[in-house]
Amino acid sequence: MADQARRKPIEDVSEISAITYGFMASKALFAALEFDLFTHIAQGADSSGALAKVSGIAENRLVTLLAALKSLGLISEADGRLANAPATARYLVAGAPGDFRDYVRFVNGEFGYESFRHLGPALRGERIFPDKGFYEGMIYEAGIGGERFSSAQHSGSLGPARLLAKRLDLKDRRKLLDVGGGSGAYSIALCAANPRLSATILDFPQTVDTAKRYVREAGLTDRIAHVAGNAISADWPSGHDVVLMSYVWSAVGEADIAVLAKRAADALPRGGLALIHDFMVDDAREGPRFAAWYLLGSMFDNPTAVCLTPGYVERVLRDAGLTVEGTETMLSGITMLTRARKPGLASSSIPA
Ligand SMILES: C[S@@+](CC[C@H](N)C(=O)[O-])C[C@H]1O[C@@H](n2cnc3c(N)ncnc32)[C@H](O)[C@@H]1O
Repeated sequence: MADQARRKPIEDVSEISAITYGFMASKALFAALEFDLFTHIAQGADSSGALAKVSGIAENRLVTLLAALKSLGLISEADGRLANAPATARYLVAGAPGDFRDYVRFVNGEFGYESFRHLGPALRGERIFPDKGFYEGMIYEAGIGGERFSSAQHSGSLGPARLLAKRLDLKDRRKLLDVGGGSGAYSIALCAANPRLSATILDFPQTVDTAKRYVREAGLTDRIAHVAGNAISADWPSGHDVVLMSYVWSAVGEADIAVLAKRAADALPRGGLALIHDFMVDDAREGPRFAAWYLLGSMFDNPTAVCLTPGYVERVLRDAGLTVEGTETMLSGITMLTRARKPGLASSSIPA
């Protein structure tokens, strides 16, 4: 994270250009994914002529896009042969181990890109759906919809979820409440890694069918349940000794964050564990840059959105009566994880 946490003040006009032209680079990547160019290259369409044929883009236009992709280091060309860069091959090709094309294309490329039109109005405090939150209004009603958003989010969350499962020792825990659990990526990864753990996903109704599908595919229907509702107002199911909120605090305003922290504290038994995973900038609010940029999006239709920092998250958890264990980087340069515990000895039925 250190390399991205704090940027040296810029000195040259070219650095301003890099920022202003940056959106064109993002668009080149989104377009390449729309035509699945990296997958075609991996499958052998490794000349501009062959790629033109399989993608349906005329070669004269395709070479302009390929030039942009080469300039970004996403692909290279030698002796007329195109090749995916190592990271492209690992993350942006169908069936690759880290394939998160749908997250890049739909969550960032469609919904994210479009929603940033609202940045100016959001800074003025204007709202598009005054009676709805960010997810209900901006994503499920006007945006890409519950099924498309949740499945695209799934491809972005699977990797981090597996990472979290490696980091956390939950072998003595029994029941996870995954608040705002969306597609269930975290519940699935954590249950897969901890055979005695079961989970409940609490999220808006628009996400439930998608989550059920992924849970079925993972063979975990007997261990993962679903509750449809708004986590601020609906009753939380009882009997859970771990509460996870991943990318939820960055979607709701300050008052709702306090409610969620208090509800987590009330729901947990003594010794119970609260986990907050989200985009956070450092306490000086100087970076990391991807977290800082992402948090701009938390303001859309959410005038009380908070610029999340470890200090802020930890204070809210303490105010709710939890004992904070600390905050660590999860996805380098992007997200952090804060752990807190309900004070007191764990009851014998739910080991600490
Ligand atoms: C970015 S997605 C993250 C999903 C999942 N936690 C993950 O990390 O993959 C945020 C999720 O929070 C849910 N969410 C946001 N506000 C909520 C609320 N008030 N009640 C229930 N779910 C909420 C959204 O519907 C969405 O599924």
